[in-house]
Amino acid sequence: MSNKKSEILFFGVRSASFGDFCEVAKSLSLNPLYVDNLPKGESQNTETFFHSNELEKFHFGLPIVISIVTPEYRKIAMLHAIELGFRDFPAFVSPNADIASNATVESGVFVNTSSIIGQSAYLARNCVINRGANVGHDVRIGEFTHVAPSACILGSSKIGANVLVGANSTVLHNLEIGPGAVIGAGAVVIHDVLAGQTVVGNPARVIKD
Ligand SMILES: CC(C)(COP(=O)(O)OP(=O)(O)OC[C@H]1O[C@@H](n2cnc3c(N)ncnc32)[C@H](O)[C@@H]1OP(=O)(O)O)[C@@H](O)C(=O)NCCC(=O)NCCS
Repeated sequence: MSNKKSEILFFGVRSASFGDFCEVAKSLSLNPLYVDNLPKGESQNTETFFHSNELEKFHFGLPIVISIVTPEYRKIAMLHAIELGFRDFPAFVSPNADIASNATVESGVFVNTSSIIGQSAYLARNCVINRGANVGHDVRIGEFTHVAPSACILGSSKIGANVLVGANSTVLHNLEIGPGAVIGAGAVVIHDVLAGQTVVGNPARVIKD
């Protein structure tokens, strides 16, 4: 049997969160190749780093992971990767995450290390559950939404698409957070948040409508 590690492509090499993706690849014993559309830096390893116009046909058959967590840029990168010809966007899940057996994790999702996904939770395509975040039972997370490190979403709340749930914030149970909303770092959300609103503080108040 071959000892060659499975290959995976990372798209979006210069993002701030890139190191976290590399750590998860290491713990999954995957061998990453890197794709970015920025010019090559002098320190880049040219054997594993590609500008997208240098990719060869076989690369497009490899699984690809968008290694960016910010909803807006993650979406742009994903659309660009599809345009280039990539088709296989697997869920990329840390073996150190604790995921209930009846939770649903769709394709393109990134679940970082030490996060907890509760019973019957649903993670829609391409969302990110970052380091140490806690997604409660029956919670729904929308597409491209980023649940930042150590955020906590309590049971049955519904988080729309393209939301930022800020680091160390808490969303109480049974709430609805509209698409494109931003929950400030450390906020404690006790009421629904409408689409596009930004809320901060404890209890959370609207600072942008
Ligand atoms: C909520 C947030 C997006 C607001 O950013 P902004 O639109 O640039 O807002 P400003 O910095 O101009 O602040 C507006 C007001 O809200 C307050 N504020 C901003 N963020 C706050 C927060 N997290 N908690 C409490 N108050 C906050 C500011 O003090 C300011 O108050 P003032 O008007 O009384 O002076 C940002 O502060 C934040 O918390 N982002 C989340 C970061 C995060 O968790 N990222 C994940 C990284 S992995």
